[in-house]
Amino acid sequence: MSSISRRELIRNTMVSGLAISAGTLLSRSAWARAEAAADISDRALAAIAPRERYLFDFGWKFQFGNGVDPAKDLGFGVGQGDFAKTGEFEFAKVKYDDSKWRELNLPHDWAVELPFVHDDVQMSHGYKPLGRRYPESSVGWYRKNFNVPASDADKRIYLDFDGVFRDVFVWVNGCFIGRNDNGYVPFRFDLTDFLAIGAENCVTARVDASFGDGWFYEGAGIYRHVWITKTAPVHLGRYESYVRAAYQPGANSSSLELATVVENHSANAVSGRVTWKVLDPSGKTVATAEAASQSIAPDGSASYTTTATLSDPMLWSTDTPNLYSAIVIVESDGKSLDAEKLNFGIRSAVFDADKGFFLNGKSIKIQGTCNHQDHAGVGAALPDRLQYFRVAVLQQMGGNAVRTSHNMPTPEWVEACERMGMLMMCETRQMSSNPEGMAQLGTMIKRFRNSPSIIIWSVGNEEWEMQSEMAEQGAKVGESMVRLCHELDPTRVVSAAVNGNNEKGVSTAFDIIGFNYNLAFPDDYHKKNPKKAVYGSETSSAIGTRGEYSSDPLRNTVNAYDGVVPWGETAEEWWKFYGTRDWLAGGFAWTGFDYRGEPTPYGWPSINSQFGIVDMCGFPKDIFYYYKAWWGKEPSLHLFPHWNWTGREGDQIKVWVYSNLDEVELFVNGASAGSQKVPHLGHVEWSVKYEPGMIEARGSKGGQVVLTEKRETTGPAAAIKLSADRMEIDADGEDVAVIRVEGLDKEGRIDPLAHNLLRFKVSGQGTLMGVGNGDPNCQESDKEPVRSLFNGLAQVIVQSTKEPGEIRIEAVKEGWDGPELTPFKLAIQTKRVALRRQI
Ligand code: GAL
Repeated sequence: MSSISRRELIRNTMVSGLAISAGTLLSRSAWARAEAAADISDRALAAIAPRERYLFDFGWKFQFGNGVDPAKDLGFGVGQGDFAKTGEFEFAKVKYDDSKWRELNLPHDWAVELPFVHDDVQMSHGYKPLGRRYPESSVGWYRKNFNVPASDADKRIYLDFDGVFRDVFVWVNGCFIGRNDNGYVPFRFDLTDFLAIGAENCVTARVDASFGDGWFYEGAGIYRHVWITKTAPVHLGRYESYVRAAYQPGANSSSLELATVVENHSANAVSGRVTWKVLDPSGKTVATAEAASQSIAPDGSASYTTTATLSDPMLWSTDTPNLYSAIVIVESDGKSLDAEKLNFGIRSAVFDADKGFFLNGKSIKIQGTCNHQDHAGVGAALPDRLQYFRVAVLQQMGGNAVRTSHNMPTPEWVEACERMGMLMMCETRQMSSNPEGMAQLGTMIKRFRNSPSIIIWSVGNEEWEMQSEMAEQGAKVGESMVRLCHELDPTRVVSAAVNGNNEKGVSTAFDIIGFNYNLAFPDDYHKKNPKKAVYGSETSSAIGTRGEYSSDPLRNTVNAYDGVVPWGETAEEWWKFYGTRDWLAGGFAWTGFDYRGEPTPYGWPSINSQFGIVDMCGFPKDIFYYYKAWWGKEPSLHLFPHWNWTGREGDQIKVWVYSNLDEVELFVNGASAGSQKVPHLGHVEWSVKYEPGMIEARGSKGGQVVLTEKRETTGPAAAIKLSADRMEIDADGEDVAVIRVEGLDKEGRIDPLAHNLLRFKVSGQGTLMGVGNGDPNCQESDKEPVRSLFNGLAQVIVQSTKEPGEIRIEAVKEGWDGPELTPFKLAIQTKRVALRRQI
């Protein structure tokens, strides 16, 4: 889309209400790009590789267990001896009767399905009953039977979990296979020896969410994808392949370092050779390379490295997210045994202590946000498509970077960023050089080191002890972690998010220095440490409730103008600081999206945070437009508040405008209330007497009015309107449409005060996945087909079935005593696509 038409589109949507349509168009094209890229890889791989990778998400059975009573926990741990013999776990066998268990598909987060409890200890977890004090709702059992065909007799078969929250035991066919004890890192089990070939098999997992990893909502259950990978006995090691591009800005070529590890799981030595095929973004082969044959001992492995050169590379950047891919192939005696495809990008990312951050030699500020991993309606179990939706929302306000606070992200979030041109600070959960901490960090780096999006590895967040009482130990922990990062990936800088002056402890080990809050520290630090690059690892913590204009502790609302926590800074304060010092690389605001838990600044009945620049659904708060004005590339103008103040006639109302134009004039019912010059990185404001009608802001540049926006006094909601981010989605049982629900007055304007309760009837080839409305104080269920509007808006997420057809969504008024509302029907088409390989 040309910039002119996009500008016009944004302008039109802004005049008609809250802008969102432009972003949905952006996200649609990025998703299409992702599909095309996936297609290239599958076609290219299928021709050469015996490797099979199956999505293992569908057709699971689920039942709650119990954290203290073995009798309610399938008898697990009743006496001694559960682990005494191999193969004796009866509940983990095919024949075990799970016919009464609930059927579900993954990803699944059971925490979002639980009711809220008024228990202040559970505040951080969004008042969900999880933890050792809630044994009935903190343990979940999953089972899935599946067939292994006779043709798999000679294969290695692996079960790959992308992440489970949190402590999990896994069994196959009654045999204990292994466990994993953190909520964010992928793990793999080799099932080969335990499977019945040519027969039915069973995987059982007991997931215990009693312990948490963080202080925010983390979900519960198998909330990320699960895969089955089948390979020949000789195959590439998991996460061992990498492509390191050494691109120097201005050069007309880039050298590539290519490496991998081949494992031999057979009883004989094998001679293995590795070749690489490098494809450009259009899928054309642009380089090939090979590494000489080596003999790999039985049950041994061998490392392979080689180099290649790319001429005239198409660079990856935030504007042009060009992705190359490398197909890595293992051969023995002229036969290919295994192959995989990696995406990578050619780009240079440099932090300079005097001049900030440079991408491909061009200075850019990091315009970032920190984000957790949950969304309205779905909790922590995000369908892949929603990751693209969320990245698009952040890009609409000019965001160019995200920090994966405070844990390893899902692969799909990283993919969305690399395909859509978003930079990433990728953070591990446990800051420790203990075996678990190092394993988490090592897996994260190996898993994601090919992604061009990632520009910083973060080894943790706000580890007070490591900075103060235990600063001496902290320095050693920091050194060990940084050493591991450098060993696995010498191309990227290592840092952490530090709430302190960064003068001792872990900070002494970092390549670049991140400050959380504390604007008093960076100048001083820079003077004392002129050779260290500095950025804002976490800033702001401004708070606000979408569409609310007063801070009212009785209603738990925060005004949209200048809410901020005592330790934080308003958007204007932090960006005037980081945006005006050349030596600062920019920073990451806390947070892009609202998230469950940490219901700051109020507790119950608030169940989610109010830090977001957008709410839990991704609906922009007014502050979004501050960022859009100063981070975006287009002319921008946003006027608030709404103009529905019945009962306050004659009162003075604060009217603000965020804009990057030269000057803005405000009109109240046609009469000028004065014109003001827009201060750089600031806003303009008036105080005007309320009278019903209309306020209008006219923004000009070079003396010409360029953008206008108005707010009118509307009538009460009289009709419902539904619109979707995409009118056609894939019929694959995974894809989703994100539906915006509006309450409109008789003249078709959004009623900014509408709180009507609505019911959503979903029929045809789709199911209702979840609902939300962005109200931090709303305790309605995320999973029921009923939701009230919050200040005019709500969201419904529907998911396709695997049958192509139509998903019909009807929204009607719920309850009898409210005003009449004209219902609305929306139909979304679902198109047949090649399903991902699945079991
Ligand atoms: C920070 C912390 C975040 C969040 C935030 C709220 O100190 O790193 O996780 O709690 O405060 O302001």
